[in-house]
Amino acid sequence: MSIVEANQLQKSYFQVKKQPGIWGSVKGLFSREKTEVKAVQGIDLKIEPGELVGFLGPNGAGKTTTLKMLSGILYPTAGSCRVLGFNPSDRKPEMLRQISLVMGNKNQLWWDLPAWDSFIVYREMYDIDPKVFDRRIERLLTELELTDKVNTQVRRLSLGERMKCELVAALIHNPRVVFLDEPTIGLDLVSQKRIREFLRDLNRDEGSTILLTSHYMQDVQELCERVIVIDHGIVVFDGGLESLMTEYSQSKRLRITFASEIQAGFAQEFGEPVEQEANTVVLSVPRDQTAAITGSILQRYDVADIGIEEVSVEEVIRDLFARNKPAEQVS
Ligand SMILES: Nc1ncnc2c1ncn2[C@@H]1O[C@H](COP(=O)(O)OP(=O)(O)OP(=O)(O)O)[C@@H](O)[C@H]1O
Ligand SMILES: [Mg+2]
Repeated sequence: MSIVEANQLQKSYFQVKKQPGIWGSVKGLFSREKTEVKAVQGIDLKIEPGELVGFLGPNGAGKTTTLKMLSGILYPTAGSCRVLGFNPSDRKPEMLRQISLVMGNKNQLWWDLPAWDSFIVYREMYDIDPKVFDRRIERLLTELELTDKVNTQVRRLSLGERMKCELVAALIHNPRVVFLDEPTIGLDLVSQKRIREFLRDLNRDEGSTILLTSHYMQDVQELCERVIVIDHGIVVFDGGLESLMTEYSQSKRLRITFASEIQAGFAQEFGEPVEQEANTVVLSVPRDQTAAITGSILQRYDVADIGIEEVSVEEVIRDLFARNKPAEQVS
């Protein structure tokens, strides 16, 4: 059995339709016409113990909604999911003890208290043995460089420090399954990197299963071998990041530096120029013709340097989203 599983998981939000203007508000008091927002339209996924999977999709694709269903905060409208063999919406203590949901834009710590006080509350809540707690908290605080921050009121911490404290609070009970919703959002590059390293260690050393959403491709590239991409509430790709790249990027980039000036008309002959500067030009060429084109350029021109590069993950993902036409709007 997979550790996280969803079968045709669906979630619709219902909103009362409001007509514009005051008259509309008055009418709304009598007729409660509802609109349905199909946030998640039927997601199937299976995650095995110890995997670190990227969960990607454009804004509004249904990522947060899915993570909330998987952690038992929201009831599915249809379909089902299982985490550690439990139905998450039963919210059984045995399950809650073993999972965690961390949301980058929502805080679970008490704002007016020092983070340390919140950690103690969590220790009591999860009934963690004090010795185990001490060992674990020390490790978490050291790794996240937080030791001298835990006595400061949370509201006075920087965004990055606060996020790191959120992670400590979410991981203090050593959950086997961790759902992370944009844990690096809004953080500077150094803090993003620190959190990435931390998550990688957590996955490697503790074997925690992690499902992570992020709009930062660096997170995905550095952490996730496997990605599940959703759009309009359905899975559009599930597989290795590498195969996503080869399947969806039909082009490669050739970076050519000429020994002397670039000859006019050169680029058009071989591919589409995407960058040009001094003696260097970057061409987009069809993936399957990369070798042939490289060969003929080398034969015919005085080239100082030539390199073949992959299109960035960012571009591939953008391209993948662009291919998916919007699903029918629901009324
Ligand atoms: N409480 C709600 N009531 C009505 N509609 C909602 C509610 N929460 C989310 N939605 C809608 O459901 C869809 C999916 O939202 P969701 O937050 O799951 O997307 P997401 O993939 O997490 O997007 P983002 O990348 O912006 O965080 C969106 O169209 C959103 O407007
Ligand atoms: Mg979201």
